[in-house]
Amino acid sequence: MEYFKEVHIPNWATIQSYCISKWDGKFTTSVSFLNEELAYLGSLLEADVKQQLGLTVKIKSAIMFINDARFVQDLHIDGYTIERKNASNTALNLPILNCESGPMMWYSGDFYLTKSPSNTIKYLKINWTTECKLATTKIIDKPTLVCINIPHHIENQSDLPRLMLSVRFTPDINIG
Ligand SMILES: [Fe+2]
Repeated sequence: MEYFKEVHIPNWATIQSYCISKWDGKFTTSVSFLNEELAYLGSLLEADVKQQLGLTVKIKSAIMFINDARFVQDLHIDGYTIERKNASNTALNLPILNCESGPMMWYSGDFYLTKSPSNTIKYLKINWTTECKLATTKIIDKPTLVCINIPHHIENQSDLPRLMLSVRFTPDINIG
């Protein structure tokens, strides 16, 4: 089972500067890039994915997550509905700021999914029916494809906000 795969993204530094310019320095949960902002990020990333992986993809969404100091995210799987219809199985995560002390962790065990009590966040809640075990941990400090259809979360273990851009593509980029 592959949980993540680092990818060289030549436009990473350009994307970092752009994303930082879109944050006012105040804590918010996330910033979604839409319309021309999404098209701009797509123009950079679609070219890099083609060049590095030989894949023709179209950008589907780009969300910058802003995790406050010491934030520990609930364990979840990404998606709006339990069937995960049209939900991506992988995301390309690009570190923007202070990502060196915020590991992403994946877990194994048996579970069923229920809708998250919050409608605003694209998370499905995990209900464990067996003990859950830590499967693997990775500090995402370089652009990395990550599995988002396996129980996971991040922990910001630093005293500064952590900014991570998470991008999904059509079609999905498979890791394995
Ligand atoms: Fe997630």
